[in-house]
Amino acid sequence: MEILVTGGAGFIGSHTCLELIKANYKIIVVDNLSNSSTESLQRVEELTNGQITFYECDLLDRKSLVEVFEHHEIKAVIHFAGLKAVGESVSIPLHYYHNNITGTLVLCDVMQQFEVKKLVFSSSATVYGIPEQVPINERFPLSATNPYGRTKLMIEEILRDLVTSDPEWSIALLRYFNPIGAHESGMIGESPNGIPNNLMPYITQVAVGRLGNLNIYGSDYPTSDGTGVRDYIHVVDLALGHLKALEKVLLTTGVDAYNLGTGKGHTVLEMVETFEKVSKKRIPYNIVERRPGDVAMCYADPSKAKKELGWIATRGIEEMCKDSWRWQSNNPNGYKNHTYSSESGIQFRLISRKH
Ligand code: NAD
Ligand code: UFG
Repeated sequence: MEILVTGGAGFIGSHTCLELIKANYKIIVVDNLSNSSTESLQRVEELTNGQITFYECDLLDRKSLVEVFEHHEIKAVIHFAGLKAVGESVSIPLHYYHNNITGTLVLCDVMQQFEVKKLVFSSSATVYGIPEQVPINERFPLSATNPYGRTKLMIEEILRDLVTSDPEWSIALLRYFNPIGAHESGMIGESPNGIPNNLMPYITQVAVGRLGNLNIYGSDYPTSDGTGVRDYIHVVDLALGHLKALEKVLLTTGVDAYNLGTGKGHTVLEMVETFEKVSKKRIPYNIVERRPGDVAMCYADPSKAKKELGWIATRGIEEMCKDSWRWQSNNPNGYKNHTYSSESGIQFRLISRKH
């Protein structure tokens, strides 16, 4: 059974490709490589002894996407492709709306044309806006505080409208909390461009000597130590959540949203201390002003995913920190400048290349 993975060369996509191959799915990846490189997929091939058919293709390029669907018997799509930097989305909102929303519209239109109506979509806990309480369940009111979040919210609504218009569709909206960690091999992981916005890649780059002190945004939140609380989830647990969601959409119709989180909240200081313990590296930090838009506490009620998908996260923050560190220390510059070459050789078919 062929599964199309959009954005499969990225952080969460590459980990999901690995688990899909392990579970014997045949996968096709489309990615425009705007925030990734094929190095991740070559390493997935190496780790699994599997083969990935890769298309360098932009979702906005309908013609090329149609070609992909013409060449394969695609049964379902896992849709990761999108831009995700909150700050950047405030600076260049039209680019975000076009890339994320138009990209999804084109994808769904082509899926409809080929009668592929099974979709797993990467949403985000950001759709809960500023939650009034924790833990957050799927029935909480939805809102957005920035253009990135609004793209996720709008896409969720568009996908619901699609199911209303044609009940043969089956769609899972997966609302991720804070994905961190890396595959235990230390061969694939998160490789952000420029200075990381997120906590864990910032910590690992401090530890590896690429960045100076960590800035901790605020120590006066109403939390146990005053720093922000988040639900960090190991990217491998998250990837496995996609396999469960895929199984569900393949068997059912309709649309449903699921929180993918652990249900446990940890403060920034707890994360720093845990990282220091497992890596034996000191993370110097400064406490600075709160970051605009941040909430004090955000963690999931993951019981719906447990009940309806049979999924729970099993990896704790020690394992997350250990695996993040193994990835970063093995690959101080992420995938950049790496001379690694795959023996199996990824199956490239370049049908669209943007310069
Ligand atoms: P990522 O940037 O590593 O992966 C996204 C991939 O999509 C990249 O490889 C990029 O090149 C590709 N892409 C972007 N626009 C494209 C387009 N128009 N056509 C084809 N390919 C395109 O990000 P990630 O962390 O793996 O996130 C995957 C998805 O999960 C995204 O939709 C993101 O918004 C969502 N998400 C991520 C987080 C997080 O903290 N990482 C949290 C919640 C939701
Ligand atoms: N933090 C710092 N210093 C940093 C970076 C982060 O103190 O350099 C703190 C933040 O203030 C927050 C916590 O660490 O308390 C986590 O921050 P991240 O930036 O790692 O994650 P967020 O919870 O802010 O946001 C992430 C993604 C969003 C997504 C959200 C929910 O960036 O896109 O998780 O899924 F919407």
